[in-house]
Amino acid sequence: MSYRILVTEAMSEDGPDWLRANGYEVKYGRGTDEKTLIEDLQDCDGVIPRLAVMSDAVISACPRLKVIARHGSGVDTVDLESCRRHGVRVVNTRGSNSVAVAEHAMLLVLACAKTLNVLQDRYRAGQFKEARKLAAGVEISGKTLGVFGFGQIGRRVAAMAHDGFGMKILAFDPFCKPESVPDYVALVSDRDEIFDNADFITLHMAATAENKHGIGAREFARMKKTACLINTARGSLVDEAALIEALRAGEIAGAGLDATEPEPADAASPLFRMENVIMTPHCGGSTKESKSRSSLGAAKGCDEVLTGKPITSPVL
Ligand SMILES: NC(=O)c1ccc[n+]([C@@H]2O[C@H](COP(=O)([O-])OP(=O)(O)OC[C@H]3O[C@@H](n4cnc5c(N)ncnc54)[C@H](O)[C@@H]3O)[C@@H](O)[C@H]2O)c1
Repeated sequence: MSYRILVTEAMSEDGPDWLRANGYEVKYGRGTDEKTLIEDLQDCDGVIPRLAVMSDAVISACPRLKVIARHGSGVDTVDLESCRRHGVRVVNTRGSNSVAVAEHAMLLVLACAKTLNVLQDRYRAGQFKEARKLAAGVEISGKTLGVFGFGQIGRRVAAMAHDGFGMKILAFDPFCKPESVPDYVALVSDRDEIFDNADFITLHMAATAENKHGIGAREFARMKKTACLINTARGSLVDEAALIEALRAGEIAGAGLDATEPEPADAASPLFRMENVIMTPHCGGSTKESKSRSSLGAAKGCDEVLTGKPITSPVL
């Protein structure tokens, strides 16, 4: 009998194709609500979830499940404690979308710096001359980028910003080994150094209970009035009400957000109506190339666990 893997949501077929070519059965999920996941998983040995939540209720109710291979790097959608109790291995595809997210962060840095929203909206409205008059972008060359979280993505952003755009880099990461930090990065131990000095702040740390809403009113008050916040990590890192207030009050100049809390953001959120805010729908990690890498990486992760091979990207 071959192993069966549940693919919960649409993804690149590269992973499922690889699984079938290697003797696995692939089952496509019918939905991501708890009840449907439990039903779908009854006859499955592994699962590849994207945003589907692997809760304790799901894990406890699926005794055949042996591996959860997260399509992407974040595992905040997986109850790790429950997996530990039930002996379910968890792997991810760490790094598969790092380039995509890093490029996206730079896109948002540039969009904020050049006030892209304003220019595009006015030009689209037929106001060519007014748009040109409003063009008051700043150069990012020579400016300081503050990087929170110096992991897979943070490192790439720092390299792109420094090597490609001549930015100065400050980084804060309490778990990062100083010897692993390139010369051009000033690793700071006091996060306030970043709020006080950076022209752009970009978030690349995992969301935890400890850092929930860790960027709030106090931090915005410290930031330069000309500074912008970029969040391509997780919405929960930022106190959104405080962000809205800081943008309204002119405490900071703008924000580029690929992640909000909740997701999707409320259609009535003032963030959608602010000209100095650019928002994308949590798609930073989704490029053609990264989708293929994530799908294939997750498929191979299932195989590694189920056949006892060394695991490329273990979580648990
Ligand atoms: N927008 C998207 O589509 C997308 C895609 C992939 C990942 N992400 C998110 O990007 C973030 C970074 O992902 P990654 O792959 O680089 O993860 P990673 O684990 O490689 O790096 C995270 C880094 O954050 C550091 N860190 C932890 N707590 C911190 C804190 N309180 N302050 C500063 N640093 C802290 C860790 O030491 C680690 O070096 C995660 O939140 C992830 O969920 C978003």
